[in-house]
Amino acid sequence: MHFNGAMRYNSIMKKSVFNSDSSLLDSLATSVLVINEALEICYVNNAAEAVFELSRNQLVGHTLKHFIANDALNSERMLHALKHRESYTEGEVTLSFTYGKHCLVDVMVSVVDQNQFSFLLLEIIVIDQQRKLSQDTQNSAHQQAARELVRGLAHEIKNPLGGIRGAAQLLDRELNNEEQREFTSLIIEQSDRLRNMVDKLLGPNAVPNFKLQNIHRAIEQIRSLIGFEADSNVKVERDYDPSIPEIYIDSDMIQQAILNIARNALQAIKEDGQITFITRIQRQQMIKGVRHPLCIEIKIIDNGPGIPKEVKDTLFYPMVSTKTDGTGLGLSIAQSLVEHHKGKVEVESWPGHTEFSILLPINNQESNK
Ligand SMILES: Nc1ncnc2c1ncn2[C@@H]1O[C@H](COP(=O)(O)OP(=O)(O)O)[C@@H](O)[C@H]1O
Ligand SMILES: [Mg+2]
Repeated sequence: MHFNGAMRYNSIMKKSVFNSDSSLLDSLATSVLVINEALEICYVNNAAEAVFELSRNQLVGHTLKHFIANDALNSERMLHALKHRESYTEGEVTLSFTYGKHCLVDVMVSVVDQNQFSFLLLEIIVIDQQRKLSQDTQNSAHQQAARELVRGLAHEIKNPLGGIRGAAQLLDRELNNEEQREFTSLIIEQSDRLRNMVDKLLGPNAVPNFKLQNIHRAIEQIRSLIGFEADSNVKVERDYDPSIPEIYIDSDMIQQAILNIARNALQAIKEDGQITFITRIQRQQMIKGVRHPLCIEIKIIDNGPGIPKEVKDTLFYPMVSTKTDGTGLGLSIAQSLVEHHKGKVEVESWPGHTEFSILLPINNQESNK
């Protein structure tokens, strides 16, 4: 194959031209791009056309910057690799295309030579589909196991803690030396602090109290609470589907779940940004292997920096946090509250956009819950 567009362009600019004579590359499921020292695209295979959603003619001859908004592919590193003839692999890169699409990919970069010129060969594997963060299937089992572990540990700490506190109280009564009593009150104070923390780890254990109610009433209360907590520059928007029917929920639990997610959003955007609450009806949703004909979807979207790469895979696990003062319990608790309703929490995130969805199946009978 010969790429006329690139030829014309490159002969004017006197840049290296890449010829691919094989249609083999077109049979690959992996996207292959060849780029030159000016980071211009010289070749794309069929799979790459599909990822970029553009034809070969539209791609070849243009720089990557033209199509990818963030410098996720790291121009500097690519040029360095070309210069020093190094290969490298970069995992979980979010490509933000200039026309709005985002996708999570693994990229392998290597150097190929042709006609005395060196080119970069980019192999791009889309991993979005496999990685979609949901609590379904295997992920859910892992999270469940982690939650059980933390709960078990919390119980083990809580039991002797009561004894320690009780003994310190008894001792306190026996003592009449003020200086020594300072120590007993220190033991009591610290035991109380530890018990509070352990109670948080144990999470909600009340039996849900399901009542038929309007989901928007529950969301509105959280929305105004978040509005109060937010800086004046933060916009808190809503977009509800008024046709959503009443649903059997434990309102306190659902509010707590929404609050945990919305507070994270608020913390992510800091003082300047937007949080949007959306409700929709979704049909035929699979939740833990069960198909639900009708579900309510509650979305909480923020335009903050996105979920940090290092916690993406373990987001819903207890005690996973990137905040210095974070407990890492917010999402784990939110998820178990939603699971009490046979629902699920999903998330999609890229820089500038984080979207949590709570899916709640609509059942007509309370006993189904
Ligand atoms: N809207 C969001 N934007 C960016 N990161 C988020 C968002 N929500 C959650 N996270 C990430 O998930 C982590 C876990 O959240 P969470 O379980 O609520 O614990 P905590 O808020 O105590 O850190 C956070 O530390 C943060 O890194
Ligand atoms: Mg939190």
